[in-house]
Amino acid sequence: MRFVNNPPDAAALMMSARSFGNYDLAGALADLIDNSIKAKARTIRLLCLFNEGDPEIRVIDDGHGMSEDELLRAMRPASTNPCEERAPDDLGRFGWGLKSASFSQCRCLTVYTRRKSGLAGASWDLDSLDNWKMAIYSVDEVRNSCSEFLLNGDGTEVVWSRCDRLSEGKSLDKNQFNELIIHARNRLALIYHRYISGEVRGKRLSIELNGLPVPEYDPFHRHHEATMQLECETLKMPGRKKITVQPYVLPHYSKLKPADLDKLSGDEGLLKNQGFYVYRNHRLIIFGTWFRLVRHGELSQLVRVSVDIPNSLDEIWKITVDKSDAQLPSVLRVRLKQIVDGLKRRSAKVFRSKGGKIHDSGKVSVWKRYVKNGEIRYEINRSHPLVTSLYIDASEELQARLESTLKVIEREFPVMNFGQDIASGSDSINQSVASPDQFRDFLAAALPGLLSDSKGNISTMLDRIRNVEPFCSNWSYVEDFLVKEGWING
Ligand SMILES: Nc1ncnc2c1ncn2[C@@H]1O[C@H](COP(=O)(O)OP(=O)(O)OP(=O)(O)O)[C@@H](O)[C@H]1O
Ligand SMILES: [Mg+2]
Repeated sequence: MRFVNNPPDAAALMMSARSFGNYDLAGALADLIDNSIKAKARTIRLLCLFNEGDPEIRVIDDGHGMSEDELLRAMRPASTNPCEERAPDDLGRFGWGLKSASFSQCRCLTVYTRRKSGLAGASWDLDSLDNWKMAIYSVDEVRNSCSEFLLNGDGTEVVWSRCDRLSEGKSLDKNQFNELIIHARNRLALIYHRYISGEVRGKRLSIELNGLPVPEYDPFHRHHEATMQLECETLKMPGRKKITVQPYVLPHYSKLKPADLDKLSGDEGLLKNQGFYVYRNHRLIIFGTWFRLVRHGELSQLVRVSVDIPNSLDEIWKITVDKSDAQLPSVLRVRLKQIVDGLKRRSAKVFRSKGGKIHDSGKVSVWKRYVKNGEIRYEINRSHPLVTSLYIDASEELQARLESTLKVIEREFPVMNFGQDIASGSDSINQSVASPDQFRDFLAAALPGLLSDSKGNISTMLDRIRNVEPFCSNWSYVEDFLVKEGWING
């Protein structure tokens, strides 16, 4: 047997690093922000320039920076062994993030850094990789190319140029670029909300994107009085490590302002965003999944469970290089499933309680309940505006047909089945409008008829429905709809 050195080809390895993980712009920026947080930065500035279709991105922090030796090590692919123990507040793991995140977006990565006033700079260029030779800049070169922030204090500036992945071969126009930036901003607001709010480290982290602060976005809407914060549970893991599980049930959408609901729903709606929100060292790594413990369902769409894990459990959670995925360790499956099943019941209650009492004082309900000689009867309320609007312009013959149809619906109400479902304590009965979109569709269908019954007068129509279900319980949505459709001014 003999041994030979068999190192990877530099160009081939760096090109493959472009596909490590599943980075989008926000994910890639997050890997750099993780490094800045580890370097104790308090302000992180992101500059994203469209640059006539040849975007350039800069991430500048005011952390402790690096000496030239440290910079050389930082630029090395796989700069640390993933098995090494990390400080409890270290957001890194693989020694790859700076390189893999950058090359997922660009072809040229340059880093300028200043530690204790000493400047250093280096870059990797995928188009001129000469074996493993890396460009190093003189102090003057750094001074001429870095931003003024670095000239004024210690920190690090990462520059991505020739962002071919971002520009999609220069076919990206300015609007699409702006959309990418807005998406990235919203995602970073979520990923780092606990840092931005000051909940971690005792002081607020400021992240600026093109000069504007990235806001904090709390997916649990904790400041809202109707958000339910349920019992927190600490699960013990081998080696005295702990995982904290904190469930929340969001308020029913009718209690939220439309703008807040839009935020909570994200691009894909409440239904998709239910589930676990897993934080590694307080930084969100994965959200909107039940880890296949339960299905995504209408009745659990208000449930979000914060799970806090320390970086010492990376191995068993199988954290990925891009920190955007993890797998639920099997030792936790049973307990988490029990927790989630309990939560589904609580969330279902929030939905059902929206159905409310039939006779809520001052409100006009769709159903009426009569008790006579010990017998109970439910009827559709004939004076509900939606019902009267059906009758108004109908011929006598059509009115008779409507009346007989309503009677059939009332008579054929499946009392026995309903009774059995209730008796079995089933959580599966959900008669409420499940989503704001469905409610908006309903408004689009119902309001034109009501307006014409009100002789086209919008304020008359609003007076008629202000205390009528289901409008009154969802009034902010009615208003939002009317403004968006241009019926009233905002
Ligand atoms: N902004 C920065 N300020 C100071 N040091 C930095 C900065 N960015 C990177 N470094 C140094 O470079 C090292 C390598 O960073 P890189 O992101 O490649 O790997 P990592 O953070 O160790 O692990 P991971 O692959 O999980 O991100 C870091 O451990 C850190 O020491
Ligand atoms: Mg890193």
